[in-house]
Amino acid sequence: MGKTVMSVLLGIESSCDETAASVVKDGRIVLSSIVASQDDLHLEFGGVVPEIASRAHIERILPVIQEAMRKSKTKLEDLDAIAVGNRPGLIGSLLVGVTTAKALAWSLNKPLITVDHVVAHLWAPNLSGASIEYPALGIVVSGGHTSLLLLEDPTTVTCIAKTTDDAAGEAFDKAAAILGLGWPGGQRIDTAASRGKPVHWLPRPKTKGDRPDFSFSGLKTALLYGVRGTPRKIEGKTVFPRSADELSSDQKDDWACSFQHAAVDAIMNGVHHALSSNSVRCVVAGGGVLANSLLRTKLEEITTQFLVPVHLPESSYCVDNAAMIAGLGNYLYVNGHRSPLSSTASPRGIAS
Ligand code: KG4
Ligand code: ZN
Repeated sequence: MGKTVMSVLLGIESSCDETAASVVKDGRIVLSSIVASQDDLHLEFGGVVPEIASRAHIERILPVIQEAMRKSKTKLEDLDAIAVGNRPGLIGSLLVGVTTAKALAWSLNKPLITVDHVVAHLWAPNLSGASIEYPALGIVVSGGHTSLLLLEDPTTVTCIAKTTDDAAGEAFDKAAAILGLGWPGGQRIDTAASRGKPVHWLPRPKTKGDRPDFSFSGLKTALLYGVRGTPRKIEGKTVFPRSADELSSDQKDDWACSFQHAAVDAIMNGVHHALSSNSVRCVVAGGGVLANSLLRTKLEEITTQFLVPVHLPESSYCVDNAAMIAGLGNYLYVNGHRSPLSSTASPRGIAS
């Protein structure tokens, strides 16, 4: 009997501030996954500066790819295809990955596969052995997206809800800034929340009509006013009665915990709404905010509430990585999909 030959793909990811490369076999077996974070470069600005991000990608992309190849013990000639996240994201950042992938595909004479970054987040649970059945409800919660998607298969996707203002990860980052906890804020709010109690009431935006869209700006403002008091205009300037520095660390922990409960409830309201009005065989989630302990717990509870399995990525595949790009790229590759070398990057994706 002939042996099944498994395809091996190199994945490249550069949509925001992580430069990543990964070699994945059969779309599920991660041979290497290298992620170079730029957190240190953007720290002093309290957010990602697009020009700094794209310049750093240019410096890091080749060493990151070389390291991914070395760790995977694979030669470039042995790859079956090159997959790259080409949308959505920061255009200057995306172009670095896309140009590198095109140059590699052309010079090695290998197929190029372009992949939607947000949809790739929902491939991530497969990297840890999940078996996703379709149709599925997809939940993407990251620094750039808060979307509910209906998936007929891994790449046939309809967006049924998205944020009308900030993404959830952005709201966590802003909440951490309000509390003076530093950047990036998600993990810092999570840690502070684990020591605190949800003693303050903060608004949970209600879903209106048929679409369970999200909104986080009201919650962020409520936290700001709760922590610093209601501002007044004095000589054209907004002046707050208090500063976050006046809070004790116990008080900060309680605000972080109250914020985390409100943000997670807002996400879960949308998820419950989507599950009540759509028939799906499982729930699959992805994105940096999936690292949040309370959100993971609440999503796991869905299994007993709605009797559908829930697939969450392991923590290293929640944040941006290239293994999810190579994995979804492999699905497209084995189904005969090829992208032309004229492919380019786009700030908008399938679900945005
Ligand atoms: O998916 P990701 O790496 O980047 C985008 O594609 O946007 O997500 C990054 C976001 C950041 O906003 C970060 O604060 C948030 O994920 N994050 C968290 C946690 N860890 C990371 N948010 C809440 N709780 C966490 N534990
Ligand atoms: Zn992402």
